[in-house]
Amino acid sequence: MKVLGISGSPRAGGNTEILVKTALNICSQNGSDTCFISLADKEINYCTACYTCKKPPYKCVHNDDATEIFEEMKSADAIIIGSPTYFSSVPGKLKSLFDRTLRLRIDNYRLSGKVGGAIAVGGSRNGGQEFVCRDIHNWMLIHEMIIVSDKKTAHFGGIGVGRNPGDILQDETGINTTENLAKRILEIIKKN
Ligand SMILES: Cc1cc2nc3c(=O)[nH]c(=O)nc-3n(C[C@H](O)[C@H](O)[C@H](O)COP(=O)(O)O)c2cc1C
Repeated sequence: MKVLGISGSPRAGGNTEILVKTALNICSQNGSDTCFISLADKEINYCTACYTCKKPPYKCVHNDDATEIFEEMKSADAIIIGSPTYFSSVPGKLKSLFDRTLRLRIDNYRLSGKVGGAIAVGGSRNGGQEFVCRDIHNWMLIHEMIIVSDKKTAHFGGIGVGRNPGDILQDETGINTTENLAKRILEIIKKN
């Protein structure tokens, strides 16, 4: 069993990274293999709709870090995507990664059946975290993934409030919902 956690924040060591690692810790404590990827130090070019990936050998024209992330996605049983809230949505870098995964969908729905969960952090309490979760869930739905929420606190996944790096550690609800997301993911992978 392998759980991949991706922090979509362009800021290394920030609140999103802390929450994604919190979820992965729960998974590893329960016997899962885990892999953490931060987009902060990755080069991810945006999709230009050239559709080269639609024709054999289904390769993208960009030769950047998205390729290794695709390999990790393909080998995972579950994928957790964490994101900061930027204007009530995901930051451009994460959106670029989402768009680039068109290749995986064209290639016979390579993410189909994988379990997925979302984590969102915003600087404000009502800053749009739920919209961010919805953006992540939409991406997962379009890949035929199985979306789960947070066990017991069941809403939309891990949702936290924190502005400066580390603030999230003071947000009990953010930590709680994130841990509960991980628990639900583990429960569903075992049933899957
Ligand atoms: C460009 C930009 C836009 C932001 N927009 C919002 C927003 O709409 N709502 C919100 O609650 N916080 C917003 N924030 C604050 C971040 O979501 C917050 O600082 C978060 O902790 C960043 O996560 P990180 O530490 O993982 O980078 C914004 C921050 C930036 C840089």
